[in-house]
Amino acid sequence: MEEKKEIKSIPRIGEKAPSFKAVTTQGEIQFPEQYEGSWVILFSHPADFTPVCTSEFMTFATLADEFEKYNCKLVGLSVDGLYSHIAWLRTIKEKIDYKGMKNVEVQFPLIEDITMEIANQYGMIQPGESNTKTVRAVFVIDPQGIVRTVLYYPLSLGRNFDELFRIVIALQTADAFNIATPADWHPGDDVIVPTAGSCGVAKERMESKDNDVYCHDWFFCTKKLDSKTIFDKITKK
Ligand code: BEZ
Repeated sequence: MEEKKEIKSIPRIGEKAPSFKAVTTQGEIQFPEQYEGSWVILFSHPADFTPVCTSEFMTFATLADEFEKYNCKLVGLSVDGLYSHIAWLRTIKEKIDYKGMKNVEVQFPLIEDITMEIANQYGMIQPGESNTKTVRAVFVIDPQGIVRTVLYYPLSLGRNFDELFRIVIALQTADAFNIATPADWHPGDDVIVPTAGSCGVAKERMESKDNDVYCHDWFFCTKKLDSKTIFDKITKK
């Protein structure tokens, strides 16, 4: 008889982030329950003591306080063991001077996942790329523990941190102001008003005299939303 392989679904946008308990460089964590009320970026890297990962970790650690301003915490993962993680983070702090970043202390938890259980749960092992290393996965999870964005990068490509910030800010802006954000949006650019759901609203939109709203057509209306209004609302006080 043909053996049936279990096909695991990876976490998808709009679904609850799978729950796990893990050992990390900051002690044990229960994920995502422990992060209820905060945004969190759960990300994987291929391996400790590798150059692209080192550049990323130094950048994540340097930007951790900036993420915190948006109530966003960081949690890393690789299939290396705890002592490798500790040794790597000590080396980064003591020896690595890269692009003006030095003496960098990684204070967010880095998960050890030698059994690859969590990596498999989150679709971080992608055998076409590697059977033994996690790809560069990014899960942006909201304060209710719902997956809101999923990104996967290959081993050779370091992540774009401007984009990670843009994602966190855009998601929080969409939630806070009930809008959507167009291509290449940055705070201060016009935002998109939810598409009219009835003929009446479509007509109202097209006839609106509101100077802050501009309709390209009934289904595509943008409005002004200045960055101060956004940051006043979404940044931690
Ligand atoms: C790196 O981080 O440099 C790396 C890790 C695994 C494979 C290739 C590159």
